[in-house]
Amino acid sequence: MERTLIKDALKQTPGTRLTVAGWVRTLRCSKGGFSFITLNDGSCMASIQVVADGQLANYDSEVVRLTAGCSLRIQGELVQSPGKGQAVELKAAAVSVLGTADAQTYPIQPKHHTLEFLRSVAHLRPRTNTFGAVARVRNAVCWAIHEFFQKRGFLYVHTPIVTASDCEGAGQMFRVTTLDLEKLPRGPEGKVDYGQDFFARPTFLTVSGQLEGEAYACALGDIYTFGPTFRSEDSTTPRHLSEFWMIEPEMAFCDLKGDADLAEAFLKHIFSAVLERCSEDMDFFCARQDKTLRDTLKGIIDSEFVRLEYTEAVSILEQAGRKWEFPIQWGVDLQTEHERYLSEEKFQKPVILQNYPAKIKSFYMRLNDDAAEHGGESTVAALDVLVPKIGEIIGGSQREERLDRIAARMAGLDMKPEDYWWYLDLRRYGTVPHAGFGLGLERTVQFVTGTANIRDVIPFPRAPRSAEF
Ligand code: 4AD
Ligand code: MG
Repeated sequence: MERTLIKDALKQTPGTRLTVAGWVRTLRCSKGGFSFITLNDGSCMASIQVVADGQLANYDSEVVRLTAGCSLRIQGELVQSPGKGQAVELKAAAVSVLGTADAQTYPIQPKHHTLEFLRSVAHLRPRTNTFGAVARVRNAVCWAIHEFFQKRGFLYVHTPIVTASDCEGAGQMFRVTTLDLEKLPRGPEGKVDYGQDFFARPTFLTVSGQLEGEAYACALGDIYTFGPTFRSEDSTTPRHLSEFWMIEPEMAFCDLKGDADLAEAFLKHIFSAVLERCSEDMDFFCARQDKTLRDTLKGIIDSEFVRLEYTEAVSILEQAGRKWEFPIQWGVDLQTEHERYLSEEKFQKPVILQNYPAKIKSFYMRLNDDAAEHGGESTVAALDVLVPKIGEIIGGSQREERLDRIAARMAGLDMKPEDYWWYLDLRRYGTVPHAGFGLGLERTVQFVTGTANIRDVIPFPRAPRSAEF
């Protein structure tokens, strides 16, 4: 079906004949025997204004009965628009109705809908300005991500979604099984016999592609993954999803400093690309969600991220003169309130927090030789990037490449080395210093669009007790 996208149609000069197709946003019938239809096709924020004349063959039978949500194909000629807000409008020569939409039941009426309500109609919410804009920005973010890595020679590697290893060791994995839950096969001690399961072992949806990503980095140099990850954490905050997309670069011959530098350049590239390519959508978010959005992003692009030691951050927080909901002291993990204080209030820009206590971080992070400085407790070469409003947007580390150290760490955590034999092989054979991080795609889209709830930046959100659609 030939059609011109509305974003292109709006740039053409009066006199151009073309066909557009889309969904009716509003219809206004004028007493003078003609009607104005605003038609949107999602190619841009703007709708095209269509003038439908009473002379059209189906004017009385169809055009005047159009309602929000009807789908149309319209042939016509662009004319200069006398109205405000658009240079051209389309004078219709033919209007074909492709699909009607019952005004009594179609949920997306031309009026204000709350985001909560729109979540209940997630299949139709992309037809609203907000969700159209979010979808376009999300797309631009993904494009910028691939562009950034491809320009730097990183290989895009696909890591598995079904896995037997728990990368983060947090026990937040969804089990994958074809066993009949009503009739579980059991072994002699009454334990479930996973030997009879599909993969003949317990398997799960991945929480991170990192471990497999490391295998490829330790052969090919610089790689990145970009895929869905799953966490069964029972958390219903505006920053957590049970299914989210993560981008994980991994670099051989790289340390924590190189990792932090990449994270900073990466975020700046994404923000610049969105400002450049999604200007109209960003105008909308500035007007609707947060006036300071564009300036905040520009400020971040033009300034250096703060690099701060965990130990120093704890003293800053202790001296902040605040009553924290979660009390802070050396050795405890930072909560969102602390992360936001640092990036939003104290420094007012992104903060790369580094070298966390080993005991609150994952097994694969490289041990620092600093136990003497912290009363016998070592830190690990971990980093988190914190941004205003969101808190943690990136988590990463230099990896423990020394076999004896990682083996000791795993033993301390009761992890079985045989479950990670292949991961340990990377330390047995030609081990190299390497580092990487994970960026949460949804938190990034949330940040650039100023969206309060993470469930509004992924098309069909999955969260505890919520998997409709
Ligand atoms: O800090 P996380 O758990 O790190 C990892 O998974 C590492 N394996 C990454 C690596 O080093 N390759 O997660 C990384 C990022 C977080 O900073 C956050 O942006 C996002 O993933 N994230 C979530 N986003 C939405 N919902 C959740 N439940 C998330 N959990 C993490
Ligand atoms: Mg983290």
